[in-house]
Amino acid sequence: MWQMLLKITLLALALEQSSRCAAAATLGSPTSNARHFPNDFLWGVGSSSYQIEGGWNADDKGESIWDYMTHKNPEKIVDQSNGDITADSYHQWRRDVEMVRELHVTTYRFSLSWPRIMPGGYMNQVSTAGIKYYSNLIDELLKYNITPMVTIYHWELPQRLQELGGWTNPEIIPLFKDYARLVLEMYGDRVKLWTTINEPWHVCEHGYGVDYMAPSYNFPGIPAYLCGHNLLKAHAEVVHMYREHFQPRQAGRIGITLDTSWPEPRNPDSAEDREASDRAVQFYVGWFAHPIFSKHGNYPKIMIERIRNLSKQQGFGARSRLPEFTNEEIHRIRGTSDFFGINSYTSNLVTPNGHNNTGKFPVPSFNHDMGVVESQAGVDWPGSGSFWLKVYPKGMYNLLMWIHREYNGPEIIVTENGVSDRGGLEDYARVDYHNLYLSAVLDAIEDGANVSGYIAWSLMDSYEWKAGYTEKFGLYHVDFSAPNRTRTPKISARVFANICKTNAIDWSYRPALDEHQLVVAARLPALETEAAANAAATFSWSLALLLGVVLAWHS
Ligand SMILES: *[C@@H]1O[C@H](CO)[C@@H](O)[C@H](O)[C@H]1NC(C)=O
Ligand SMILES: *[C@@H]1O[C@H](CO)[C@@H](O)[C@H](O)[C@H]1NC(C)=O
Ligand SMILES: *[C@@H]1O[C@H](CO)[C@@H](O)[C@H](O)[C@H]1NC(C)=O
Ligand SMILES: *[C@@H]1O[C@H](CO)[C@@H](O)[C@H](O)[C@H]1NC(C)=O
Repeated sequence: MWQMLLKITLLALALEQSSRCAAAATLGSPTSNARHFPNDFLWGVGSSSYQIEGGWNADDKGESIWDYMTHKNPEKIVDQSNGDITADSYHQWRRDVEMVRELHVTTYRFSLSWPRIMPGGYMNQVSTAGIKYYSNLIDELLKYNITPMVTIYHWELPQRLQELGGWTNPEIIPLFKDYARLVLEMYGDRVKLWTTINEPWHVCEHGYGVDYMAPSYNFPGIPAYLCGHNLLKAHAEVVHMYREHFQPRQAGRIGITLDTSWPEPRNPDSAEDREASDRAVQFYVGWFAHPIFSKHGNYPKIMIERIRNLSKQQGFGARSRLPEFTNEEIHRIRGTSDFFGINSYTSNLVTPNGHNNTGKFPVPSFNHDMGVVESQAGVDWPGSGSFWLKVYPKGMYNLLMWIHREYNGPEIIVTENGVSDRGGLEDYARVDYHNLYLSAVLDAIEDGANVSGYIAWSLMDSYEWKAGYTEKFGLYHVDFSAPNRTRTPKISARVFANICKTNAIDWSYRPALDEHQLVVAARLPALETEAAANAAATFSWSLALLLGVVLAWHS
């Protein structure tokens, strides 16, 4: 039944696509039966060091906050697992590059592990093996004309630096700069695309405000803002150093990657819900984007005022819990990104946090300061393998257009976008997800947003942080029980490769498993294939509803 529904909806979508093209043709755009991405569009696929490398104590690697937390408190992880071995990319990296090539992408986004390179976090000890590992990976990518896009910090703080307070200690600024200087010196001749820090909001609020990501401080309302303050300064120092000492001869580009779920007003006719949506996007994105990308710099006015007012009411006196930048700092941080990297997976419906902000949040806390309740209750968006991730492509369109308007048309790279399931190779739900979200990206491009690239998350199934190995985001399946962590393309790998090759979405391209995939699929544990089939069925049912909405929205 759901297969039939799916066929009907895909047909509807194909019709809708061709009518869009017909409309474009009458306006003088080139005619073709598919909408194309710009010619020089950057296609990529992503991963991060802790999630795929393993080799947690290989050679002289030091301990990261994730090693420490998963070893000390395995109960914080859904399946009590850790990234000690995970996909073993520390040894399987040649196969990784082969996969990247199979995907026809031009770019591979990966991250460096600080304690693999500087075991104790300080420059007094540098690991030759760690330096060499990434050097080999970079050379292998370049051999095949694949651009390495390197994230300097994707959440692996050396544990010893955490013991000094991590990102809440301003000492992190020169330390991060020392680490960045070393990697820019080591790799900058070959790496032309850098991001300093991945998802500052997660680093600060999920790391320090609540008990979620390492180091799991669970101290709401105060340290997250100290973290954000130091992080912005550290980012800016690294970008200035790059621009002064490296960029002139290395000629690369450097930026930052932020993240958010799009906050959609629960009732679009309610002024309060629309205000809640504006506030949420300022707190999630503006917190880091306003200091870097806005005309005048500094934190968003709404954050400064709300947190100052609430701090005062809460008895903190005249000093806001949100630290203040000096004018000199504001000036130094502004403009420190060559592009706007954004990660987004899903959306939430938002309303204000009760009358007078007296709803459900601890006082003080980031959520109380924001004063917004987010929820996916009651939506008919398709689900995924993650409780928080529901499929609402219009949220991606809205987010890209918001960035475009708010920051005066910066170049945007979608540095992560993808969907989870619970396993298997027949991931048609993932195919649908990428097709739909890419279609939303095209809509934003056609409406003026300068989106120059899209990086699918993720190259392969990985250690999914708190979810351990229970949620799979890979275009490639990884057999975590095989000693060599055998990788096998899923259906989505073939479809994504086709998109990158043709620069367009082909809604009718849904290949079946080939002989090799069938052999691998037959050996998968029943749990994985059943979970995948159930997810696909649920997804397609709700996809039918969703496409109805998409059609209504376009017409
Ligand atoms: C903060 O308080 C001032 C003075 O009471 C008030 O004028 C302003 O509207 C408040 N700002 C916010 C965002 O609540
Ligand atoms: C709550 O809001 C009302 C106006 O809607 C105001 O009169 C009242 O003083 C507020 N209460 C508190 C505790 O701020
Ligand atoms: C988009 O950004 C790139 C890189 O900054 C720039 O070269 C290009 O002119 C921009 N395109 C538009 C349409 O603004
Ligand atoms: C990995 O191991 C499996 C059997 O355990 C074998 O079939 C496969 O060829 C190996 N792959 C590589 C890349 O070594």
